Amino acid sequence: MKINGKNYRTIWFENNLVKIIDQTKLPHKFVIKDLRNIKDAINAIKTMEVRGAPLIGATAAYGLVLSIIERNDLSFLKKSSEELISSRPTAINLKWAVDRMMKKISGVNKKDLLKIALNEAKSILEEDIKFCKNIGLNGVKIIEKISSKKKDTVNILTHCNAGWLATIDWGTATSPIYHAHQKGIKVHVWVDETRPRNQGANLTSYELNEEGISNTVITDNAGGILMQRGEVDMCIVGTDRTLSNGDVCNKIGTYLKALSAKDNNVPFYVALPSSTIDWSIKDHKEIPIEERNSEELSHIEGIDENNEIKKIRIYPKKSKSLNLAFDVTPAKLVTALITEKGICEASEKSLKGLFK
Ligand code: MRU
Repeated sequence: MKINGKNYRTIWFENNLVKIIDQTKLPHKFVIKDLRNIKDAINAIKTMEVRGAPLIGATAAYGLVLSIIERNDLSFLKKSSEELISSRPTAINLKWAVDRMMKKISGVNKKDLLKIALNEAKSILEEDIKFCKNIGLNGVKIIEKISSKKKDTVNILTHCNAGWLATIDWGTATSPIYHAHQKGIKVHVWVDETRPRNQGANLTSYELNEEGISNTVITDNAGGILMQRGEVDMCIVGTDRTLSNGDVCNKIGTYLKALSAKDNNVPFYVALPSSTIDWSIKDHKEIPIEERNSEELSHIEGIDENNEIKKIRIYPKKSKSLNLAFDVTPAKLVTALITEKGICEASEKSLKGLFK
């Protein structure tokens, strides 16, 4: 998708370096950063220079490529893979990508290791782009239906950033929106600010602006009243891990939106590539919910009058805070899952019908 009219992907490989768009600087500064070694890749994931389930998976895949370039040694590679998996615990794509890479390169002789790893990382990227595009082609049908019934702009609420910046291109939740826009369907997006890191305000609104899509940033608590007023036609969110029973783990606050949507008869869709399905866990209580630094709550970042990014404290030093980064929306609150293979009920039977 575009930034300043120029097409970008969120990650690419060039001259033995991995290039990323540093998302901690957006929307104020557009900075392309080099990842030179495995330490840089792990740091980029931990500090959220890259974030979003599919993108951290892709970064982990390239992290292993960097690890091989640094030291073509099996025990170093194994250590790298373990550190990558533990760099962020909730999004399953991270483990999925590392496991896929390790499987591909296991038993390969040293001289071919880099070539095979690089090819696999590239196919993870290309596959994600294809899957996200297909999510859009499937999901746009829902928007089209609402639009032809309503004969007016379709208002869509989204939470966090499940846009192209969270993937390689297209996004998951945003892909149906981008496809609708390209087809000339009038859409407007309510963008949840998404405290504490403001991925909605900083990233979703930014990328929608760059694509010329009408959007309005709202506080995380505003969705309820907008739904009561009939100003939300549908919700679409992404997911970090979807269980085979259809339970959806996503950015903190998603669950409250789903509850409100249910109470107001607003359809609540979750868009996901199959790399986000965790077939191994049956009970959502087993999902490791990331607890991040409380400074993400106590401090806020913005840009000052000299164009400098500044961080300031916003509440008393003495106050305690708890920064849970994800929550789980039970399948019963999800209208349907939008996947690369089609739209299905949030249930084991339907998911298996599509993917097994
Ligand atoms: O903490 P983040 O910014 O990595 O969380 C991202 C989300 O929760 C996204 O909604 C999810 O990863 C889906 S991305 C297509």
